[in-house]
Amino acid sequence: MDYDEIYRHGAAPWEIGGPQPALAAVLDRGVGGPRVLDLGCGTGELALALARLGLDVTGVDISPVAIDLARAKAADAGLAIHFEVDDATSLPAAEFDAIFDSGLLHNLHRENADATAAYLALLPTLAAPAATLHVLGVSAAAGGDWTMTEEFLRATFAEPTWTDTRVTDIEVFATVDGADLTMPGFLLTTVRKPPSVG
Ligand SMILES: C[S@@+](CC[C@H](N)C(=O)[O-])C[C@H]1O[C@@H](n2cnc3c(N)ncnc32)[C@H](O)[C@@H]1O
Repeated sequence: MDYDEIYRHGAAPWEIGGPQPALAAVLDRGVGGPRVLDLGCGTGELALALARLGLDVTGVDISPVAIDLARAKAADAGLAIHFEVDDATSLPAAEFDAIFDSGLLHNLHRENADATAAYLALLPTLAAPAATLHVLGVSAAAGGDWTMTEEFLRATFAEPTWTDTRVTDIEVFATVDGADLTMPGFLLTTVRKPPSVG
């Protein structure tokens, strides 16, 4: 998918003028911080909402056009957010306290098995011990070429690397040609299992 082209034309269906409602609800319940990473952050709506909570936010996206738009939004809002153009399948190790993926894994999963494997192997290396990870995506139940299933998520985010994994049915919101629509999706929340002591 040519993300730059989509963003350049203002035609991204996932641009709904704010974070996905299921993730906004996560923010309302409280996000462990302070260091938070938004992978595939797009034009930064979720990153902005996280920064408004006083968190130290990094947003990464492969699209320079999206990151330019995100930086402009942050500047307009007077928010200091670290936005980077980078490939989320090959980031250096880090220790984020909370990690968000709003619509990245579901695209990797339907488009590129190698990129999906690289991304899933990398995620634990970005998380501090006991960090939380939230992944939102469209489910295979939406039809078309969507591929993510609850079985896939539960098998992927499992012990010994991840613990306390919850997968909730949600609605994913989109806007196509000015019309709002929803698709069946998942919100996965899991915890990076800390190394065992003793
Ligand atoms: C469905 S959009 C979601 C954007 C944003 N998270 C949101 O909820 O509005 C997927 C985003 O992932 C980005 N992306 C795709 N592949 C990527 C990769 N390998 N590394 C980083 N970002 C990527 C795209 O540029 C796009 O902004």
